[in-house]
Amino acid sequence: MTAVELLLALLALLDFASGLKLTMLRVPSQKLRSSDVTLKCFYDLQNGTLYSVQWYKDNSVFYRFVPADTPSGQMFPLPGVTVDLKGSNDNQVILRLLDLDSSGTYRCEVSSEAPEFLTEVAEAHMNVMALPKDPPKITGLRQKYNEGDPINLNCTSAPSKPLAVLYWFINGNQVDNFDISQRRIIPTGKDSKDGPFLTQYRSVTDEEGLEYVTLGLRLAAKKKFFNNLLHTMKIRCTSSMGVLMWHVDLSTHIHAVSAASLTSCFLQTVWLLSAFSYLFAHKFCANLL
Ligand SMILES: *[C@@H]1O[C@H](CO)[C@@H](O)[C@H](O)[C@H]1NC(C)=O
Ligand SMILES: *[C@@H]1O[C@H](CO)[C@@H](O)[C@H](O)[C@H]1NC(C)=O
Repeated sequence: MTAVELLLALLALLDFASGLKLTMLRVPSQKLRSSDVTLKCFYDLQNGTLYSVQWYKDNSVFYRFVPADTPSGQMFPLPGVTVDLKGSNDNQVILRLLDLDSSGTYRCEVSSEAPEFLTEVAEAHMNVMALPKDPPKITGLRQKYNEGDPINLNCTSAPSKPLAVLYWFINGNQVDNFDISQRRIIPTGKDSKDGPFLTQYRSVTDEEGLEYVTLGLRLAAKKKFFNNLLHTMKIRCTSSMGVLMWHVDLSTHIHAVSAASLTSCFLQTVWLLSAFSYLFAHKFCANLL
């Protein structure tokens, strides 16, 4: 046997050993709660015969396809996993109405018939998110302050999964040193007793498993924070989940001028990244007036 023949023989052996190949696994990494998902698993049997395709979530089987069985497709109930049997087959499984407990590691396992008895697996993680149903809420804001009064506010996110991140803006400038908007940033007032100061409270998990959090903002009602002409300070709180954002805008005044013509609610139609945020902000605002 020449070296080349030996190499070819080895390659043939290797080829036989990997006679079954998983060619594609598609499990989306992020899905929204209440949506459906189609998980895909494609394989190449070469010249073998399919024995079964099995799907697992976190090591528990929830769907099995065996061509020799009648019916071929069978499901096994698991929390958060509702299989659409009609739409599922040896290449895909459809899950309906995803919930928070649908998050997990999904594995596809393909096995071939005798005489090969080969098994190939692939797995991927899917996270199910729940968006907040409302914009964040600002509490503690008065319509008017006297110069030097303490302004003590809280912004609380609506429950979501994962937890939303909160940001405060004063007159369009973000408070603190994160940079999500590339606007001017107001450093927290470490060297000024007027603030602004931020207080991050601990997040809370509700009975549904959703999380919310409060971010406090404290400052003194000093003229430097108010618009000279209108004696107005615009306050915004934004909650963010990745590229999705929701915000609420309010404004307040410092005592000096009759503010009868000004409303307690100020809406800016700017950078509405989420189509819903305007509706939410508008709804919130209308409730206030
Ligand atoms: C299976 O494939 C190998 C090479 O890929 C070939 O030599 C063999 O004859 C095939 N067997 C059958 C039953 O088709
Ligand atoms: C802000 O929220 C925190 C945590 O819930 C609470 O302890 C605090 O009293 C609140 N402050 C104001 C001004 O509402």
